[in-house]
Amino acid sequence: MLVNYDKLNQTITESEQQTYIDEVLRNPYIPHGNKKEPWKKVDPFYEQMLILMDECDKKYPDYKLISGGAFSGKSQMTAIMAARYLIYPNYRGLILRNTYKQVVSSGGAVDKLRGWLGDKKRLGKYTCKENKTEMFFEAPNGARIYYSYCDTPEQMDKIRGTSYHDIFIEEASEIPGDILEFLPRSIRPHRGKDYIPEGYVLNSNPSFGPGVDWLHKMFLDEDSPHKHYTLDLMMNPFVDRIAYDKRLAEMSPVQQAFMRFGDWNYVPDGGLLLTREQLEEAEIDPLEFDYNDTIFSLIGVDIAGEGDDYTSLTSILYLKNGNVILDDNILLNDSTLEEQVKHFVEEQTEKTKLNRIIFEEEGGGSATYALKHFKHVLSDIQKKNYFSVKMKPVRKNKFERARPLAYGIRNGFVRINKFIPNKQLLQNQFMYVNPDKQIMKKHKSPDFLDSATIGYNSLNSMYNLEEYNRKIRRNNK
Ligand SMILES: Nc1ncnc2c1ncn2[C@@H]1O[C@H](COP(=O)(O)OP(=O)(O)OP(=O)(O)O)[C@@H](O)[C@H]1O
Ligand SMILES: [Mg+2]
Repeated sequence: MLVNYDKLNQTITESEQQTYIDEVLRNPYIPHGNKKEPWKKVDPFYEQMLILMDECDKKYPDYKLISGGAFSGKSQMTAIMAARYLIYPNYRGLILRNTYKQVVSSGGAVDKLRGWLGDKKRLGKYTCKENKTEMFFEAPNGARIYYSYCDTPEQMDKIRGTSYHDIFIEEASEIPGDILEFLPRSIRPHRGKDYIPEGYVLNSNPSFGPGVDWLHKMFLDEDSPHKHYTLDLMMNPFVDRIAYDKRLAEMSPVQQAFMRFGDWNYVPDGGLLLTREQLEEAEIDPLEFDYNDTIFSLIGVDIAGEGDDYTSLTSILYLKNGNVILDDNILLNDSTLEEQVKHFVEEQTEKTKLNRIIFEEEGGGSATYALKHFKHVLSDIQKKNYFSVKMKPVRKNKFERARPLAYGIRNGFVRINKFIPNKQLLQNQFMYVNPDKQIMKKHKSPDFLDSATIGYNSLNSMYNLEEYNRKIRRNNK
């Protein structure tokens, strides 16, 4: 159930305001900065403040989800929410993330608290101790904030056997729904009766993680029972918003939906690396560039494996202006290979000087054999236009290998000849390329994409295209 901040603002009571002042603004554990160290100031911005005030005078506030993209201030909220209760003696709070590595990672709530609570100079008699074996911070009054993770049964047993006033989850969508549902059973008074507020507060950016369905049911769907607050990078005045947003804008569509827009309802209208629209935008009319501007020209080759695969050749040009053009392609089946390869290579040498042909070496010996064979077949053309013929072993999966090419297309410096043969096929292969081997098995081998990838990666390692184009774009501003 999405919370509207302006409506919420109307409902804030005096008692809530006073509790907020006492627990947060006057809380010694939360750094408020001073004249000497103004950068240590933790100052909740408008939306954070409203979240911190909402129901804060209640002993049993509602379950809460705070969602948002990258740098929106989620972990900061977790740190503030846990530290606010350190003023209550014998408080027990727990901060949880999926794995150990994640819960202690830099920038997370635990990392922030470590910086705040161990600062002797600032805290003096309020300085807290950390017990790294048992994983908790302890204030001088006995209040503790534990931190833990839930990807091992032993750790989960430990959590089950302990009671906490509050559980705070970092990046909840990474944790399976049944665990998220179970955890609140460990929320109960630590020792007999006391009046410390008990709560279950989760933060998360959207993802395809195993907790998403449960989060939808509890917080995100229209008729869900609990409160969902959103934060956004643009609300956060403590970071260089424009610079961060630019960085996020370079990510793939799905990562942008999650990290830049905090969108929980994203359905891919394209592949994981690119949308169809981005591919269409990358098209260029050959009249718009000049083959004489070519600095380096190469052909990437993906040799057919068994079955109904094709051998694919993609011709790629690197131009003076820093642009890369996917210029030509041919798909071949074995019977007519030699003549057609010859013909295709000859055609490229007529457009511009050809520098290199590069083969993808996959497991099995077919490529080695093919390389020898090709060298022989092409030796005549080589005499007129010298080019090297190389073979390069490939590492990582097809998806990872295609990433740099997709980056170039998204950022406008890799263009695709509008009239390139088999254009639709390339588009389709970009739609289904996926890091999951099982998914890849359901599709034909993405031969065109592979040949473009091998050629592009070879160019990229020679010219460091991404850095070069970042510089050009900077200079154009
Ligand atoms: N109220 C605040 N006062 C001071 N700094 C803040 C505040 N809220 C957020 N920040 C700063 O903004 C940055 C991003 O905040 P935070 O790490 O909480 O974001 P996040 O949403 O958890 O991001 P990520 O997606 O990286 O986990 C941090 O440098 C943090 O210190
Ligand atoms: Mg965070």
